[in-house]
Amino acid sequence: MASSTASFSFIHVFPRIPAKPKFHLKDLPGSGKRIDILCRGLAACFDWAPELISRTNIEYYAVLSDKITMKFTYSPECIGKGETWWASVIQRVLSGVNVDFCGKMDWNLETTMKSTTQDNFDLYVLDEKGTPIDTVLQHSNLSQNSFMVGDHRGFELDTRELLRDMNVQQVSLGETSYLGSHCIAQVISNYERISKS
Ligand SMILES: C[S@@+](CC[C@H](N)C(=O)[O-])C[C@H]1O[C@@H](n2cnc3c(N)ncnc32)[C@H](O)[C@@H]1O
Repeated sequence: MASSTASFSFIHVFPRIPAKPKFHLKDLPGSGKRIDILCRGLAACFDWAPELISRTNIEYYAVLSDKITMKFTYSPECIGKGETWWASVIQRVLSGVNVDFCGKMDWNLETTMKSTTQDNFDLYVLDEKGTPIDTVLQHSNLSQNSFMVGDHRGFELDTRELLRDMNVQQVSLGETSYLGSHCIAQVISNYERISKS
């Protein structure tokens, strides 16, 4: 199957996950303040979903406590690994260890959003009440799209205000509320279906 040259980035927002490596690998939801959701977002980007899109054309940003942004790119090492493996990578990077497929920047959410738009990505926010995603993908240039995703509680008030101030378009995958990782997988597979038709 031919691969697509489209690039995707996902900005997953975690206001409750501390920017510190102090969590237990055996208790990710509790001690990690739902860092398991972040690990599943990574699996959706680099392991489960893409078929036509090259995994090397996907970037995943995790914004922790509006203080630190971790940027992940593809590595063949990540295939078939589970949440605990991803969590151990996050723990190493937050402890200051260099990992070639994950960078750590002192960027808050606004800086991360602006960096994707400066790189000429069209920025959207995933929201049940938005414009149906197929409409957006069909009318976008289908080449560089960035999607923001909330955690299990959705976006906080200050993030919603920032989204309004920056005039970020809402796009929807339907009325049902899905887990963030499933939204990421669905965006990728919707794009792949549209680009094949
Ligand atoms: C588990 S949902 C958050 C649910 C939370 N209770 C709320 O009301 O926002 C996690 C994130 O996935 C995205 N999401 C979930 N379902 C969606 C849908 N049907 N369409 C678009 N985005 C969706 C949103 O970004 C949401 O913040």
